[in-house]
Amino acid sequence: MRVQKMHPVIGLEILDLDLSNPLPDESFKQIRAGLNEYSLILIRNQNLTEEQHVNFSKRFGNLMTHVLTQYLTTPYPELYVLSNKSINGKPIGNHKEGWNWHSDWSYYEVPCLGSVLYAREVPPEGGDTLFSSMCAAYEALDDNFKKRLLGLEAVHSYVGYFGKAFKDRAPLSDAQRARTPDVTHPIVRTHPETGRKSLYVGEDIISHIIGLEKGESADLLAQLNAHAVSEEFVYRHNWREGDLIIWDNRCTMHCATPYDDQKYFRVMHRATIEGVDRPR
Ligand code: SIN
Repeated sequence: MRVQKMHPVIGLEILDLDLSNPLPDESFKQIRAGLNEYSLILIRNQNLTEEQHVNFSKRFGNLMTHVLTQYLTTPYPELYVLSNKSINGKPIGNHKEGWNWHSDWSYYEVPCLGSVLYAREVPPEGGDTLFSSMCAAYEALDDNFKKRLLGLEAVHSYVGYFGKAFKDRAPLSDAQRARTPDVTHPIVRTHPETGRKSLYVGEDIISHIIGLEKGESADLLAQLNAHAVSEEFVYRHNWREGDLIIWDNRCTMHCATPYDDQKYFRVMHRATIEGVDRPR
């Protein structure tokens, strides 16, 4: 397979691959190994049906369904739709989802392993996605600071996140709240396959760090979030239709950026790969 590195610390592009054709096990193994080494894989110029997107994603593991079931608007409940488009007055996807730094589904006890995002319709300008290597961010910390983080745990709250990100929406239903109780994760986690340590933080999802006074918790979180998305750790992806990106949520954060949503449509389909263990 022809490949090229995309950035000094994150991302590998695989060239000349057509995922609408059967993918031999050996090629999938190379993609899987590339994901461990580079945390993000880009495959451009794809022309996939929803079924092909789902079937390719399933090669990485079981797929999860999003708690916001109103945005599972394709025949495949495994696909979460992110979009500003409506059909007959009904949104086909969640608009402004992920416009903040986060790792997908960190609000579960066992968060997801990765995500497979496919660009179906993209604006000619804006709507980029930023991806940050949380391993590189952790490794760049000095030893004393690393020691300070040892053993610290933070509370990830989907209910808190939803209230901040989607103030204009109908509130979560009781069933949705029941599916998303607050959970606790370490601030530094170790990748179960590579053994590399990474920061595990996020902008709106973490309510506080356990055991720290409110101001101290907020200051430390702000410091870690700012460090984690320093320019040297971040790759900016300018989407083209047909781009497919797979990323490892165990060692990256990402953030979608705004676009002119009055002028352009953006339609993205995301499959989410089940995690197998709790962060530790
Ligand atoms: C997300 O998966 O959080 C959103 C990414 C995007 O829409 O670019």
